[in-house]
Amino acid sequence: MTDEREITLTVNGTKRTIEVEPRRLLVHAIREDLDLTGTHIGCDTGNCGACTVLVDDEPIKSCLTFAVQADGSEVLTVEGMEELPESAGDLHPLQEGFHEEHGLQCGYCTPGMILAGKALLDENPDPDEDEIREAISGNLCRCTGYQNIVRSIEYAADELEARAAADGGTSIPDRASNASATDGSDAAFDCGLENCCGGPAAGADGGESRE
Ligand code: FES
Ligand code: FES
Repeated sequence: MTDEREITLTVNGTKRTIEVEPRRLLVHAIREDLDLTGTHIGCDTGNCGACTVLVDDEPIKSCLTFAVQADGSEVLTVEGMEELPESAGDLHPLQEGFHEEHGLQCGYCTPGMILAGKALLDENPDPDEDEIREAISGNLCRCTGYQNIVRSIEYAADELEARAAADGGTSIPDRASNASATDGSDAAFDCGLENCCGGPAAGADGGESRE
């Protein structure tokens, strides 16, 4: 017997209503019910970050979130990046950055990295290398060694600044009033579970072990 619930999500700017079992994970709803397969599944256990999406502007691991928990929320996946105002109808500066700076090899981690980078730049438009590494510390890449991913996000920060200067600053979301990304705390993830993505244990090494 199924016990499905109707939920409505605004996904990449479009309202979508689906029926899901209460146990259905958001990542499966995104990939299988909404056919948005750009969000990847690497581990299904909250370790790799391949499933990262933004829910109400916050990066979450969608394999650790039930779809019903996102009911009524705005969800951004990699497919929605080109629709954002700062993309101006083309590739988002983060997508451009990963292309220009060779920030990917197999590309499996890339959608999650891009969404983690988006969350960072929304909060902190001019991050230094340590801040970038901290922001992607919940996202694993088996290929690149991370340096080119850092450069890709730096590229995007520069490009967003240039575009903002060109249009008077209207293309960058103003989230500067939210201090959470600049106060040294782990702004990368908050899956809602204690001692998990957003907890102190998860960010303890700050990604410093990666080079
Ligand atoms: S699939 Fe690996 S963290 Fe979600
Ligand atoms: S590019 Fe292959 S896992 Fe990151």
